[in-house]
Amino acid sequence: MPAGAPLPIPPTADEIVRRLRAAGCVFAEDEAALLLEAARSGAELEAMVARRVEGFPLEHILGWAEFAGLRIRVADRVFVPRRRTEFLAQVTVSLTRDANTGPHHPTPVVLDLCCGSGAIAAVVEASIPQAVVYAADLDPAATQCARQNLSHPDRVFTGDLFAALPPRLAGTVDVIVANTPYVPTDALELMPPEARLHEARFALDGGTDGLDLQRRIATEATRWLAPGGHLLVEVNEAQAHVASGIFETGGLHARTLADDEYEVTVVIGTAPFTNDLFRTSMDF
Ligand SMILES: C[S@@+](CC[C@H](N)C(=O)[O-])C[C@H]1O[C@@H](n2cnc3c(N)ncnc32)[C@H](O)[C@@H]1O
Repeated sequence: MPAGAPLPIPPTADEIVRRLRAAGCVFAEDEAALLLEAARSGAELEAMVARRVEGFPLEHILGWAEFAGLRIRVADRVFVPRRRTEFLAQVTVSLTRDANTGPHHPTPVVLDLCCGSGAIAAVVEASIPQAVVYAADLDPAATQCARQNLSHPDRVFTGDLFAALPPRLAGTVDVIVANTPYVPTDALELMPPEARLHEARFALDGGTDGLDLQRRIATEATRWLAPGGHLLVEVNEAQAHVASGIFETGGLHARTLADDEYEVTVVIGTAPFTNDLFRTSMDF
């Protein structure tokens, strides 16, 4: 702004609500309150409102998303954690609490694969402080956020699925949670513009039936899981049967948990205990 130019008049709360509502924001009052709280100057407030009216996700404008009661840092283009994924996070916490730890393995080990901002890992850390939590994602912008959201930045890795991990983790992980992209490619164009235009395509596109990454993960999971460990993914109801079959093919015992409130299904694949393998071979 040139020296001596009049300062822009910041929009009032009523004006912001009116502009947000006209742009189609359903929770215009709530959003206006958050923008007013976040802006450090009138000019910044105007810029934030203008971006929101253009269709940028509120979370990218604020720089954070609320997830299971936590404030999770999310940078532009990074996948915004969805409310429905709180169910996957709850199941992850519950299985981690029940993990089969013992004298040689005193604290549960959790891996958030395809971690994005690290939202699920952050819930595990907040719920079970003694858990050793790792996270990995292909996208450096996502892992940069995850390092800010998690208490051990050195446990966050960037790379393609398991290839990102240090080999020493093989056979040690009690719970692998992987909220992979699972939208079938043909359905991408039906997604709301906020996701379609402002989140990376590789964070959404799950291939022809949406389960491409889950196939790759299930193939390798038993190499990384501790005996009796679990792999968890989120799917929609229509994908659950195929996803269960993928897990079984990968040597995991599959079951599903559906949540009516969030309209989402979690598929859990459990690795055999060595004893189970022994018993199975004895049965023959
Ligand atoms: C649906 S988002 C989920 C992010 C986060 N777990 C959450 O629930 O908010 C999927 C994530 O998978 C990551 N991703 C896609 N392909 C990947 C790959 N080959 N290896 C690792 N991460 C991948 C994307 O970068 C994205 O962050």
